[in-house]
Amino acid sequence: GAVKHYDWTIDYDFWSPDCVEKLIISINGQYPGPTIDATVGDTIIVKIHNKLPTESVVIHWHGIRQRGTPWADGAAFVSQCPVAPEDEYTYQFVVDNAGTYFYHGHHGMQRAAGFYGSLIVRPKAGTVEPFQYDDELSIIVNDWWHKSVHDQERGLYSNPFRWVGEPQSLLIEGRGAYNCSLVPVGAVPNSGDCVTCNASAPQCQPYVLPVTAGKTYRLRIASVASLSALNFILEGHNMTVVEADGNYVEPVVVDNLDLYSGESYSVLFTANQDPTRNYWAGLNVRGRKPLTPTGLAILNYLPNPSTLLPTTPTPVSPLWNDYNLSLAQAQQIKAHSSLEIPFNEWSGSDRTISLLNTQNKLNGVNKWAINNVTLVPLSTPYLAVYTYKKLKKVLSATPPPPLTYTPGYDIFQPPVNPNTTVGSGVYEFKLNEVIDVVIQNANTLTVNASEIHPWHLHGHDFYVLGFGNGVFTSNDYDNLNYVNPPLRNTVPVFPYGWTVIRFKADNPGVWPFHCHIEPHFHMGMGVIFAEGTDLLPRIRLPAQNLGCGLTKDLIRG
Ligand code: C2O
Ligand code: CU
Repeated sequence: GAVKHYDWTIDYDFWSPDCVEKLIISINGQYPGPTIDATVGDTIIVKIHNKLPTESVVIHWHGIRQRGTPWADGAAFVSQCPVAPEDEYTYQFVVDNAGTYFYHGHHGMQRAAGFYGSLIVRPKAGTVEPFQYDDELSIIVNDWWHKSVHDQERGLYSNPFRWVGEPQSLLIEGRGAYNCSLVPVGAVPNSGDCVTCNASAPQCQPYVLPVTAGKTYRLRIASVASLSALNFILEGHNMTVVEADGNYVEPVVVDNLDLYSGESYSVLFTANQDPTRNYWAGLNVRGRKPLTPTGLAILNYLPNPSTLLPTTPTPVSPLWNDYNLSLAQAQQIKAHSSLEIPFNEWSGSDRTISLLNTQNKLNGVNKWAINNVTLVPLSTPYLAVYTYKKLKKVLSATPPPPLTYTPGYDIFQPPVNPNTTVGSGVYEFKLNEVIDVVIQNANTLTVNASEIHPWHLHGHDFYVLGFGNGVFTSNDYDNLNYVNPPLRNTVPVFPYGWTVIRFKADNPGVWPFHCHIEPHFHMGMGVIFAEGTDLLPRIRLPAQNLGCGLTKDLIRG
């Protein structure tokens, strides 16, 4: 493969993503960051220069498995020390699977400050994909607040809790429009922003998807939302889902597409509507009561001018809390028939761990917990702890996390004892163990409330064996999908429901598995997996990964 070099300067910049000027984290002065466009087998080398005056950074390559390069995964305090202001760092990894990916900051809440971009991996020349199209388009979507991420982050651990509320805007490829007249009453925490809103700012003009009548397009869509479950609609056009998280799926036709943070899709659509006009591409919130106007882009039938706005109503998504519909759509996604599922060879799973998702309190502060442990990562990167024998002792100070939760836990009620415990422990897997993970949702601290959580695993794709409502029991094993489970790197667990995934621990490294909702991860909603721990001392951890926590001593010699 080719070697592709990138040189990125990371800085703050003034930007008006939704017509209200704020600071965003830019890469080479761009927002969203530059797109990496590569081919299977390429080596990607990204040298970053951190020009943020007072914050350190890392970049996580979401969906890239990092086989043989666990040090380049870009998860702060898991794979590396964050890169200090004025410092440099060089990521190097091979992209080994074609698909739609992205990258983002993975330290604090920097992703929500706009620190992200697209990463597209194309098949090698001569490889045939299981579908055809004439041309390609790509968007990355997110939700957007006018409060800084520092403000948002501090609020999360304030007592009493200070919650930022629903987003001001939804952005498509970094563009949206904060329209005061569209914002529902009571939903404007910063109504002063209406005064400073400049609707003609070039940075907030709607993103344009140009098409030619009669052609078929592959549209790549990825969500880096901080909070929201989103729903995407191309007015007047059906979409056929053909790829999910970098894996081919059996084609499914939809007229609206649920997108959970951390997921990516390719959909095909044909420009087969009245070509004398343009159409809306619309993005709405689902899964939480929406208080944010529809995010809009323009599906521009050439040669109409892109400024020819549709006069039709903006797209309306299914009811936000119709979770059965969300579940049904998630269940429609199956592995493409050409993919082999290796379960015979894997001969079932070697063990199952069950992860109960609850909202809790710690000294009066709101947390999320897994089996009643809220994750506080070590201040020494886990990968270094497993690489250097003399650091291993830090793990004895933190017990391994529980493999399951108390039987009989009532998932339909707020926790009887809301208090959680803090942990930094690791689930350790032997090389090549086959692991099933049952993600079990439950009621939050509020009566009659349970939320969607999109779970994302680093270092792997996993098979999604199934979803269900209520408490997962061993009987449910009989009804899981062992035939064509889709390979994903992110999967939702629905309110009061469960999701089961399976993967083989065949990638030596330390990998976070966490809720991709930025505030939830920040409030402890994640676990750490270490795989093939015997092999980790052989990893050559670059010196640039070190320097924080106990790794300071290594550098001093
Ligand atoms: Cu896209 Cu650990 O995250
Ligand atoms: Cu969550």
